[in-house]
Amino acid sequence: MVAEPGAQVVLASNRGPVSYALGGDGALSARRGGGGLVSGLSAIGPEAGAVWVCAALGDGDRAAARRYGTRLAAADTGGQAVRMLDIDPEVFEAAYNGIANSTLWFLHHMLYDIPREPVFDAAFRERWAAYGTYNAAFADALAQEAAPGAAVIVQDYHLALVPGMLRERRPDLRIGHFSHTPWAPPEYFRLLPDDIAGQLLRGMLGADRLGFLTARWAQGFARCCQEVLGAMESKDHSTALAVHPLGADGDFLRERARRPDVGERMAALRTEIGGAERKVIVRVDRTELSKNIVRGLHAYRRLLELRPEWRGRVVHLAFAYPSRQDLAVYRDYTAEVSRLAQEINSAYGTPDWQPVLLHLEDDFARSLAAYRIADVALVNPVRDGMNLVAKEVPVLSDEGCALVLSREAGAAAELSEDALMVNPYDVEATARALHEALTMPPGERAERTKRLAAAATALPPQAWFTAQLEGLTGAQ
Ligand code: G6P
Repeated sequence: MVAEPGAQVVLASNRGPVSYALGGDGALSARRGGGGLVSGLSAIGPEAGAVWVCAALGDGDRAAARRYGTRLAAADTGGQAVRMLDIDPEVFEAAYNGIANSTLWFLHHMLYDIPREPVFDAAFRERWAAYGTYNAAFADALAQEAAPGAAVIVQDYHLALVPGMLRERRPDLRIGHFSHTPWAPPEYFRLLPDDIAGQLLRGMLGADRLGFLTARWAQGFARCCQEVLGAMESKDHSTALAVHPLGADGDFLRERARRPDVGERMAALRTEIGGAERKVIVRVDRTELSKNIVRGLHAYRRLLELRPEWRGRVVHLAFAYPSRQDLAVYRDYTAEVSRLAQEINSAYGTPDWQPVLLHLEDDFARSLAAYRIADVALVNPVRDGMNLVAKEVPVLSDEGCALVLSREAGAAAELSEDALMVNPYDVEATARALHEALTMPPGERAERTKRLAAAATALPPQAWFTAQLEGLTGAQ
């Protein structure tokens, strides 16, 4: 039983702030979770008194959830009260991989290879039922944890049905939902079977307030409601739409990037890059289809073709960290990224110059080191809720960094004036933008970086979260 009177603020997200690995001897080791959502929420800190409900993602997490019961060990969570739900692995797999990551993520990022997919068959219906069960497990836990009248903030597409389910269980609560992804336009959203499209939207509309990263995504949602449901309305309450553009955590990043491990990584990267005068084009992503890493590499190859003067004088540092490797399409994508990097290296490399340095192992300190030394950052997603890398690089850049940014990233709404904007499908234009970025005069680059950093830190994670909470509880 959870002790009375319950928490005044409860958060819910699929991925929690820690994940556990199970050693051969049964020992559990904890590690910080990844992605924009976790970085945003982690800034809240235990002093807020919130309880964070998340799912056990793998065997290590499930062992931890069983060992610790309704609260993980505070030492593992930095003191944050975390309840990790031990959901049946088959249900979890069908909900997380089958629906959240293979259907909803693909819809909102418009990733389908349309002549072949999606196919909504009987097996899909089974996965959809599992998604309902998984959402209900969250709604049950949240209903237990929340004090009377508490604020509950649900995060992301994994939990789109939770607001409606929670409202049925606890009509006294103030329910918010925040989307870290884009929202699909209605023409694309309506690929879903009509009944399921309706269930998703009505699930979301169970909230009092729905938050999005940009006005564009909020409008996408409103338009889907209009077309699928005829209106953005529920019988017994109204739902407000709000926009909270999550920013970078400048204070945290600056402090973290000055620690010795980052300095060591900078020295190691410099050695790898070679030639003190060489320029560095950096990208840091999960190996995620929507990040458009493959076209990024094509654009870099094109730059070397179009502008032979850069050969030997530039290096592309590409970090692509493993993500969602249970899905074959992600494994194939990772393999394609590696193959292409090798192709470029064998086509153009020389004994003392490797044009692409690709790293696939996650190393946070090395990412920060790359941010500090980057001359150019390439952020070219085909579609992205926000993209925090675009906001983090200008904050940490030592000498100023030119940002080549996709107009389809949510961050474009705030950074487009000082970034070099590209159509992410246009490899030719991206190659030209890389050249322009590399040749930008140092003074201009530094000035732009300063303005980018200011825009990027306008709404740091803590303020972002407080704004959601205040919007929900009616405080000004
Ligand atoms: C995006 C999503 C998050 C997710 C993160 C990492 O940022 O919006 O909800 O946690 O990707 O993905 P993963 O599947 O590893 O949790």
